[in-house]
Amino acid sequence: MTLSSSIQLGVNVDHIATVRQQRRGRFPDPVYAALVAEQAGAEGITAHLREDRRHIQERDVELLKDTLQTRLNLEMAATRQMVNIALRVRPAHCCLVPERREELTTEGGLEAAGQVTTLHSVCDELTAAGIVVSLFIDPEPSQIEAAKTLGAPCIELHTGAYADTTDPAARRREHARLAHAAQYAHALGLQVNAGHGLTLDNVQAIAQIPEIVELNIGYSIVARALFVGLPAAVAEMKHALAAARA
Ligand code: PXP
Repeated sequence: MTLSSSIQLGVNVDHIATVRQQRRGRFPDPVYAALVAEQAGAEGITAHLREDRRHIQERDVELLKDTLQTRLNLEMAATRQMVNIALRVRPAHCCLVPERREELTTEGGLEAAGQVTTLHSVCDELTAAGIVVSLFIDPEPSQIEAAKTLGAPCIELHTGAYADTTDPAARRREHARLAHAAQYAHALGLQVNAGHGLTLDNVQAIAQIPEIVELNIGYSIVARALFVGLPAAVAEMKHALAAARA
């Protein structure tokens, strides 16, 4: 796999739906947000259909699949119910994530190395349906090797530990872990994506890791959109990614 000089942006629209679900109403609409994000330059749209349906609903996923001009990356837990939905909707990509009901957001990577047998059948079913499977994992060699064993063509490295620390030395350490993981996964032939907790302030060093193909970013873009509007918030992030790779 050759390295690309550009890096793609997948915009996560969960938090548009979070606001809508506060009133269980019709707006703001994550599907509309996705179309605006595409027009502002997003190369893909990510939505996480959680088991508790706290933000994205099944109908959103169906509408996104039908209306996007780019591609839908459906984040989901590796459960029977979610696999059935994915097989029906057929998003371009499925990113398998760990899920705990009490968490505010996805807290850690998938423990792929510890559940190879269970995940194997999920990966096989999704792949057979033409869906590109990705695993959201911590930047650990054992998890990358598990992804390879499972036949997933793609991983998404969890950047939360990097993004959440304010200690400069810890941040450098986390960045090095991510850079090594990206290199290792790329050498094994996996597509490397990354995301979680990325902002205009911390994204540059991650976007400079040459093996990373795509970053999935949601919360900071939606938060910024409150003040500058969604098209500008997406464009700013695109600009930051391009500048990092220039
Ligand atoms: N990638 C995955 C797998 C996620 O679960 C999330 C959070 O939903 C993101 C990326 C985006 O994280 P954030 O909203 O912090 O940008």
